[in-house]
Amino acid sequence: MEIEEALKNRRSVRRYRQKAVSMETLKEIGEICRYAPTGGNRQDWELVLVNDQDIVGDVFSTLAWLPTVGAPPEGKRPTAYLVVISDDKSNGVADCAAITTYALLAAYARGLGSCWFGSIRRTELSKLLEVPETYSIEFVISLGYPDEEFRVENGDGKVRVEDGVTNVPKRRVSDIIHVNSFGNRG
Ligand SMILES: Cc1cc2nc3c(=O)[nH]c(=O)nc-3n(C[C@H](O)[C@H](O)[C@H](O)COP(=O)(O)O)c2cc1C
Repeated sequence: MEIEEALKNRRSVRRYRQKAVSMETLKEIGEICRYAPTGGNRQDWELVLVNDQDIVGDVFSTLAWLPTVGAPPEGKRPTAYLVVISDDKSNGVADCAAITTYALLAAYARGLGSCWFGSIRRTELSKLLEVPETYSIEFVISLGYPDEEFRVENGDGKVRVEDGVTNVPKRRVSDIIHVNSFGNRG
């Protein structure tokens, strides 16, 4: 798969078909994450792979879903999760962001939809997954086979659902790029 195709077309999927994601697939994604950059190559991150359906149901209730799209109803919920944890107190968030990006792309390459979660009831989730206190839960990634259509448009507005299609505005390149100095928009 062309990497640029994945970079452009991966979207945050919040509606899923109810098809199981195998532990083998979750492990493959974890294996790809090994190659992500980390500060000083410290690699102080780990993953909790979740596809046990009882636990999957419990993880769901610890997450906050983007209000303009909303939480998926029963029958459209994620069928697996990756929970990105770290015991590095300085670089943890940045490292785990890199890991999460790798995981989203590795999932996309396998036909899976994913969504990155930063809004998490962390204490509850730590207890549920028995994560030791020395680790922080940085991010959760929901996973499943996608059941959502997307349209990308130019702009900086909110993500919104129209006629069953999730519209995702992205800022124009001319609004984000400075050429050699901040004052030169190119
Ligand atoms: C750091 C970070 C935290 C996020 N947290 C949440 C979240 O808690 N809930 C959610 O529904 N989406 C979350 N998202 C997904 C964003 O809403 C999504 O990336 C954004 O709307 C752009 O859509 P796209 O990923 O399809 O390009 C998060 C994304 C990032 C990078």
